[in-house]
Amino acid sequence: MLDLGCGTAEWLLRALATHPELHAEGVDTSEESVTQARRSADLLGVGERLVVHRQEAADFVSDQPFDLVLSVGATHAFGGLLPTLAAAREHLAPGGRVLLGESFWDRAPSPEAVEIFGELHDLATTVDLVVADGWAPVHAHVSTREELDAYEWSCLGSLASWALDHPADPDAAEVLRTATTRRAEWLRGYRDSFGFLTLVLRPVSGRGSRGRSVLA
Ligand SMILES: C[S@@+](CC[C@H](N)C(=O)[O-])C[C@H]1O[C@@H](n2cnc3c(N)ncnc32)[C@H](O)[C@@H]1O
Repeated sequence: MLDLGCGTAEWLLRALATHPELHAEGVDTSEESVTQARRSADLLGVGERLVVHRQEAADFVSDQPFDLVLSVGATHAFGGLLPTLAAAREHLAPGGRVLLGESFWDRAPSPEAVEIFGELHDLATTVDLVVADGWAPVHAHVSTREELDAYEWSCLGSLASWALDHPADPDAAEVLRTATTRRAEWLRGYRDSFGFLTLVLRPVSGRGSRGRSVLA
């Protein structure tokens, strides 16, 4: 597995923990995330099967292709949805799958939401673009309102808790302010319009798999 924009490698860690034969690589620019991913892998006892590269995802090259290429919530690292799929295609082994996580507008966004996320498509258009690019969705999950709420409360609650647990830290006040600002942006700005789609994709054209036809 290869995860482009892996963050703390949560997807890879869960897969490694449940599939002992699996080897995985992750790529991310965040020093903190990469360090935490390696630490978590060691704690889980899967560290020998995970390599995490701290670098630009678009610059990552590998001698070997991957059976599964993931990129979840990181299409901005490549400049958008289609460039992300092009990069994933380059890394994909024959018969492989891509797992792509992408934001979309579930309803017409407010100007504030567009300011935060930039131009997104609606769900149908997002899938149309993927299909037109030569991919077949073979499985998908649209995050529910409950899942998206849980994600935001968890993320913002972690920030607030950290600030309250570290009152002497010079960053504490700023972290608490950030949690408050981000919570208002979410509740007032994009909670009603933001959606998140996770697709499992197979290439339908011979452009995948490093030049080898997947239809042969
Ligand atoms: C929303 S997080 C998603 C993390 C992970 N995929 C997950 O699902 O938990 C986006 C990640 O993309 C990373 N990122 C942003 N720009 C990047 C780039 N140019 N190259 C590699 N990683 C990048 C960030 O550091 C962050 O960890």
